[in-house]
Amino acid sequence: MAVTRRQFLVAPAMLAATTALPGGLLAALAAETPVVPDLSDWSRVRAQFALDPSYAHFASFFIVSHPAPVREAIEAYRRAIDRNAFRFVEEALFEDDAHNIPLQVRTEMAGYLGGQADEICLTRSTTESLALVYHGLPLKAGDEVLATTHDHYSHHESIRLATERVGASMRKVSLFEEAADASTDRIIERLLAGIGPKTRVVGVTWVHSSSGIRLPVREIASALKTRHGEVLLVVDGVHGLGAADETVATMGADYFCAGTHKWMLGPRGTGLIQASADNWARLRPTVPDFSDLESYVAWTENRAPKTPTNAARMTPGGFHAFEHQWAAAAAFRMHKAMGRDRVAARIRVLNDQLKSGLAENPKVKMHTPRSGDLSAGLVAFEVDGVKPEEVVRQLLAKRIIASTSPYAVTYARLAPSLVNTPEEVDAAVRAVREISG
Ligand SMILES: Cc1ncc(COP(=O)(O)O)c(C=O)c1O
Repeated sequence: MAVTRRQFLVAPAMLAATTALPGGLLAALAAETPVVPDLSDWSRVRAQFALDPSYAHFASFFIVSHPAPVREAIEAYRRAIDRNAFRFVEEALFEDDAHNIPLQVRTEMAGYLGGQADEICLTRSTTESLALVYHGLPLKAGDEVLATTHDHYSHHESIRLATERVGASMRKVSLFEEAADASTDRIIERLLAGIGPKTRVVGVTWVHSSSGIRLPVREIASALKTRHGEVLLVVDGVHGLGAADETVATMGADYFCAGTHKWMLGPRGTGLIQASADNWARLRPTVPDFSDLESYVAWTENRAPKTPTNAARMTPGGFHAFEHQWAAAAAFRMHKAMGRDRVAARIRVLNDQLKSGLAENPKVKMHTPRSGDLSAGLVAFEVDGVKPEEVVRQLLAKRIIASTSPYAVTYARLAPSLVNTPEEVDAAVRAVREISG
């Protein structure tokens, strides 16, 4: 087992007196943390949410309403920290692996993603994940990052800020004229055609919050590796993680960035980056970490760290809202209990139902591909003669919560998820029909 920061700091004679008791605080916490509830049917899953039942919630991907296992885990950590803030946090961060709570969180996440705990960096959002990756890349003057015209503000701005800093540049290609008509082959063709001699990194979005299209990332990654093996692939995966049945760790992204506070149902203010050891080694950290012993030892010895960058060293340090960060494990456990395939299938059925209903309305133009193979949990659409904000306003008046996409060209969005029923989807279709006149 690796030396811990506490062992490094404390003289051997003192260690016995300060080392955590076997089981210690963690065991006490485990005893008061409820087990994962029965999630074998969708009404039991819906019962985990404290959402206002007088609305149909079709924008819950925007920011999560914590399900009961997450609320309870946050509360258990909060109580434990409030009982003994120093002992609990110090032990959880700096004791050996058996007591290290961030390591337990990363292990849960890695299990769901199909990778290893040491590939996971804990962040607070997709935005923070993207910023850490792009600012960490060894870009230099003259290099180019290729993004697409469809990515989110947080993605484009992370690239702009990182490239500006070093005199590199950013370019964007469009992958389709109309998402609803896009095809895997054409998407790949257009992306590859956009790569130029200066392109070092390509950034794409898995599920677009503008149109609801789900990019075939596995196929994109494979084509990229074959044709441009040296170009790195960064994926904003936030609307796919927890909505699609994918083994993210083998999908082919060099850096997979996502918040875990949307479809993953994790605590608000949590996210991750997943990358291989080789890809972590390419990066330079931006924020000092509290997780990697070598960073700390190097600081005490007034030298630079000797070992390559790893996920722990990329994890922003400082003291955080730990009850939220650590309770992320409960969300991953909940997803494992529901089953990644079952969750994706349920989301697909509800979205297919919505799309079929909207397709019967001649005044509706859908921008999301009809096929569940090229979409996930979001349906973006326009109603002839009614502005998207007005569609959303009128839906709200009917107690249906929709949203507009925050992009230069905006659409109305309905996002059927685990909190919805087929009856609510029917009601949404009827409401859109009434609005369209
Ligand atoms: C595609 C996409 N990327 C990134 C973000 C920002 O997510 P976060 O709040 O986790 O930073 C959003 C927000 O909804 C989004 O739609």
